[in-house]
Amino acid sequence: MSPHDGPVRAFAPGRVNLIGDHTDHMGGPVLPMAIQLGTTVTGVRGGGRVELTSDLLDGEVRLDLPVREPAAVAPAWGRYVAGVAAQLGTTIGLSGRVTSDLPAGAGLSSSAALEVAVALALGGDEVAADPVSLARTCQAAEQAATGVPCGIMDQLASVAGVEGHALLIDCSTLAVTPVPIPDHARIWVVHSGQDRALDGSAYAERRAECERARDELGHLPGADPDAVERLDDPVVRARARHVRSESARVHELAAALRAGDLRTAGALMVASHRSLREDFEVSTPALDATVDRLLATPGVHGARLTGAGFGGCVVALTDPEVQLDGWRVDASAGARLLEP
Ligand code: GLA
Repeated sequence: MSPHDGPVRAFAPGRVNLIGDHTDHMGGPVLPMAIQLGTTVTGVRGGGRVELTSDLLDGEVRLDLPVREPAAVAPAWGRYVAGVAAQLGTTIGLSGRVTSDLPAGAGLSSSAALEVAVALALGGDEVAADPVSLARTCQAAEQAATGVPCGIMDQLASVAGVEGHALLIDCSTLAVTPVPIPDHARIWVVHSGQDRALDGSAYAERRAECERARDELGHLPGADPDAVERLDDPVVRARARHVRSESARVHELAAALRAGDLRTAGALMVASHRSLREDFEVSTPALDATVDRLLATPGVHGARLTGAGFGGCVVALTDPEVQLDGWRVDASAGARLLEP
């Protein structure tokens, strides 16, 4: 028996991003929070294969170890599992099941939660001991599984969550600063009715446009606004304008939350949505309509698309008495190993 063999149980939360979308891949700041909804992997470690079933997703994942080609695995959700096993170089297997109360396709990072829970289940205490490297492993797994050049926000938010706090993450240094959510604030997540097609090619295209701007201007989050406006290509200029202005809004929102100023916080969220719609062009008519409907609801201070865009959910900041048709989410602790 290896010292790692035996029963194991690991939980990883999803996340909602309050502000700072499409800034992580440019080394900018983000302000997500881990939520109470998440994914649990329960099983027995040992043997030479990974065998998992899921209560939400069809098919059984069966992997021979070591895993070499995660992107070729079927069923598709097994690619995330395979990506993690490949990144960890796992040779000790795991057999068990995945349960989750995180809606898939909503933009609440169900894939990051699955990756982090699987990584903890496979790697145990050793993997749990280094949160940043755990998040990096899972980011690399996501990239290997999907081919999407995603940033680190989703995985790091799931790993580093702090109860009652949003996480101000500097994606250059990966420093995480918890920011308290005011007692009189509520956070809601409302589905736009349009499933998020993780449009990998559009994501990669946006990121490549940002890289073109960065080649000219250097670090985009801190770029000089006049220099941004002098960029020749109008598309590259608009992408850079978003990354720069959104990065500034992240710090402003963190300050507004610390001051308990929901009005200012809400206005910043509205400005963020406009920037994602007009400059970054990742909103959709369904997301715009959801934001407009929420902003017309009494007690809603702000609303914006959250995550990559192209469908999925809107996050709203509200007064305590407001009830919306969606998920009320609480800022929650990060991923952890549980008693099996
Ligand atoms: C996806 C990616 C993240 C981040 C967001 C947009 O969720 O996985 O890294 O880029 O989109 O902010």
